[in-house]
Amino acid sequence: MELRREEKKRFVRKKFAAVTKRYDFLNAFLSMYIDHYWRNKTADSLGALPSGPLLDLCAGTLPLAETIVRRRNDGRQVVAVDFCLEMLQQGVQRLSGSRWLDSIVPVCGDGELLPFPDRTFSGITIAFGIRNLGDQEKGLQEMHRVLVPGGRLLILEFSRPRTPIFGALYSFYLHKVLPVIGGWISGDREAYQYLATSIQGFYDPPLLAGMMEAAGFQEVGFQPLSMGIVTLYSGTKGK
Ligand SMILES: C[S@@+](CC[C@H](N)C(=O)[O-])C[C@H]1O[C@@H](n2cnc3c(N)ncnc32)[C@H](O)[C@@H]1O
Repeated sequence: MELRREEKKRFVRKKFAAVTKRYDFLNAFLSMYIDHYWRNKTADSLGALPSGPLLDLCAGTLPLAETIVRRRNDGRQVVAVDFCLEMLQQGVQRLSGSRWLDSIVPVCGDGELLPFPDRTFSGITIAFGIRNLGDQEKGLQEMHRVLVPGGRLLILEFSRPRTPIFGALYSFYLHKVLPVIGGWISGDREAYQYLATSIQGFYDPPLLAGMMEAAGFQEVGFQPLSMGIVTLYSGTKGK
């Protein structure tokens, strides 16, 4: 089991390093730019928080960290953690010269073993990252550990539409269209096959919400967005 998880982590890191250059373009293109709306919604849902820095986990090329800094504009630091150095570098390069980068602290590290003391962050976000962790339970426990009491966690993740007709169309897009276009543009078809199978095999929203509760989060809820293509989960750490 442990080996399979480590293997998955090695595979995931390698695949993101391989698609780094085309990642942002493909995200926007394949989602028809709806990904911007999903990240805006996540950033806005952080709402009022205790004082302290924020953590954006599995930050990739920094799109959510940037969205949070831009939309909140409250001078808070956003620590952006990812274990794929190439993704972080791409984000820093993309944002170089922008004032938003001044509030972002990129850190190359593992989301399942966060290099921070307990109760460090007032809010945590993770967009399209939890599905990629080797061990979701471990990741959630780490998020809970580094959150301050009263702090909020937001998870944005792909899910599967519930309505049969749209669900069937989406499944066709996921397995037949996305790997071809993604593979063609990024040069790594396997990465986009992995995206499709990992979405298909991921936990249903009530299950992931239950895992958040098991990790200690309170007031756990979730909201499907865009007909259930993605789901936004939220939880708080008790005071
Ligand atoms: C699909 S990308 C999401 C990037 C970004 N959050 C966004 O909204 O586009 C997932 C990211 O999670 C990172 N990741 C996966 N497992 C990780 C782990 N255990 N620790 C840190 N980062 C991880 C990958 O390197 C990749 O950059």
